[in-house]
Amino acid sequence: MPKSDVSLSVIKRLPRYYRFLGEIKKAGVQRISSGELSKRMGFTASQIRQDLNCLGGFGQQGYGYNVEQLYGEIGKILGVDKKAKTILIGAGNLGRAVASHMSFEERGFNLIGIFDRNEALAGQLVRNLPIRHIDGLYDFCRDNNPTVAVLCIPSESAQEITDELVKLGVKGFWNFSHYDIASHHPEVAVENVHLSDSLMTLSYHINNIKKSK
Ligand code: NAI
Repeated sequence: MPKSDVSLSVIKRLPRYYRFLGEIKKAGVQRISSGELSKRMGFTASQIRQDLNCLGGFGQQGYGYNVEQLYGEIGKILGVDKKAKTILIGAGNLGRAVASHMSFEERGFNLIGIFDRNEALAGQLVRNLPIRHIDGLYDFCRDNNPTVAVLCIPSESAQEITDELVKLGVKGFWNFSHYDIASHHPEVAVENVHLSDSLMTLSYHINNIKKSK
């Protein structure tokens, strides 16, 4: 069993372990040492041993890690076997791309509704789900009890929608809007996604490669 005080930095690395283990499992690899994991993932072997010890220590001296077991255990810790009922708000360019291309089901989520305030979009299908008008949000949530919302709306729209969704029982937000949900609703879980942060990190790395040459 994982220790209850697993640090946020370990949690943040788990999806990468999970993804990598999934790939090698598919390729037929049955066991792997921390040294090999380290070479292929770019973490140090001691970092890997520390991380996996935190989760309950799945390795065996001289054997390494059983890939299938470790993959399964990390999946359980991440909750990918759950199917959290999820809705997406904002079916514009970003919302449609996220709805169409994310494998929600493989990550522990079940996308059950897509909403937008633009009446012209109502009824259009995205991922086989009809876009619903936002006026139907209350009734839909009351009938279906979603616990997660993906926000793909501008920040100026996000406050009102977030307040309503929290009242309706939403406990987790995958937040692409630039609205700071966490400071207004510390009681819910929020994962902010800012593609521009990733781009700026790339910019930093590029500029540092140039400087070191
Ligand atoms: P878009 O204009 O194509 O789509 C926004 C959609 O949200 C529209 O269909 C609009 O009708 C809908 N909407 C606005 N307020 C609403 C409300 N109260 N209820 C329901 N629907 C509502 O814009 P796009 O490109 O899809 O971007 C959406 C937002 O995401 C933008 O504000 C942008 O700043 C942000 N964004 C964030 C990124 C990130 O990495 N976090 C990347 C790209 C965009």
